[in-house]
Amino acid sequence: MEDNVKKLIQYSAIKPTGSLTLGSYLGAIKNWCGLCSEYSSIFCIADMHSITIRMDPAVLRRNTLEQLAYYIASGLDPEKCIFYIQSHVHEHAELSWVLGCYSMFGELSRMTQFKDKSAKNADNINGGLFTYPVLMAADILLYNTDIVPVGEDQRQHVELCRDIANRFNGVYGETFKLPKAVLPKVGAKVMSLTEPDKKMSKSDDSDAGSILLKDTDEVIMRKFKRAVTDCETCVRFDAENKKGVSNLMAIYSCVTGKSFDEIEREFDGKGYGVFKPAVGEAVCDTLRPIREEANRILADKAYLESVYAEGARKASQIASRTLSKVYKKVGFVKKP
Ligand code: TYM
Repeated sequence: MEDNVKKLIQYSAIKPTGSLTLGSYLGAIKNWCGLCSEYSSIFCIADMHSITIRMDPAVLRRNTLEQLAYYIASGLDPEKCIFYIQSHVHEHAELSWVLGCYSMFGELSRMTQFKDKSAKNADNINGGLFTYPVLMAADILLYNTDIVPVGEDQRQHVELCRDIANRFNGVYGETFKLPKAVLPKVGAKVMSLTEPDKKMSKSDDSDAGSILLKDTDEVIMRKFKRAVTDCETCVRFDAENKKGVSNLMAIYSCVTGKSFDEIEREFDGKGYGVFKPAVGEAVCDTLRPIREEANRILADKAYLESVYAEGARKASQIASRTLSKVYKKVGFVKKP
């Protein structure tokens, strides 16, 4: 990493529970790319976070490598950033245990994502689902993180991480930096194309509401043409009353850099029959080079392995220093 010492640190992660979506790209990865020149950058593939739901082991392995290939293909440079797989750095699990002892049952119970996921997986409300934000706090705090670029749905977890760090610092003195969530101005919550009330999320490949980064141009165009809009015909931003159209405008704005005013003018009098394919084409133009590059990288398993091996080595160096400091503070006898 360049200028490792001087720069502030950005840290973020994505869990490989499914194929990456346009939501994770616009809400997170695109923002990471923009911040890379200014910050030292550490990006994790949060495989340990993935097993709070039942995952097919082969699918988890495939998604993990695919995700790394997409990180690199999106423009993040392995020479300048650290990329690693969470389970390769054992300090995550260890710090998570310590922090769990400084996290309150009440605050974990209030996490929106815990409540949502418990409702969706009523037959599998496991301990991991409940303590998930503690592991996420450990991820962030191990690396002296200054900023955490995430989408809207992760803001609450980053705030909880600050609360846990603050509580620990209050007992043992300054130990952790307090990280700040950084959200993109547009794209922090990309909604489903078929149910614009719901977040676009990683799910099975057949979901018409989610654009996957690995979707072909043809599939992307078909999904946009079928996107839910409303019974008016005008392209106008109104997040309350025109959810579908506003979501498409936000996506279009993210991939073209155009403002909502410019978009309204561009499609004035043109109707959704012109607007929806235009959004689809702009998304295809953005994702095509990324997809092609990711496929090329994925074919080179030796290269991928060298990236995550080196990443784990660098990440472990930083993480072990933090963990030693924490163990000392809480009173664990140093291992000879
Ligand atoms: P995950 O894997 O659900 O999502 C990864 C990132 O993508 C963002 N995102 C979205 N942004 C906008 N619109 C959407 N529809 C959309 N869907 C996803 C998320 O906000 C997130 O930034 N717990 C985390 C992963 C994690 C993590 C961390 C993040 C583990 N450890 C440490 C930051 C720091 C998660 O489940 O994100």
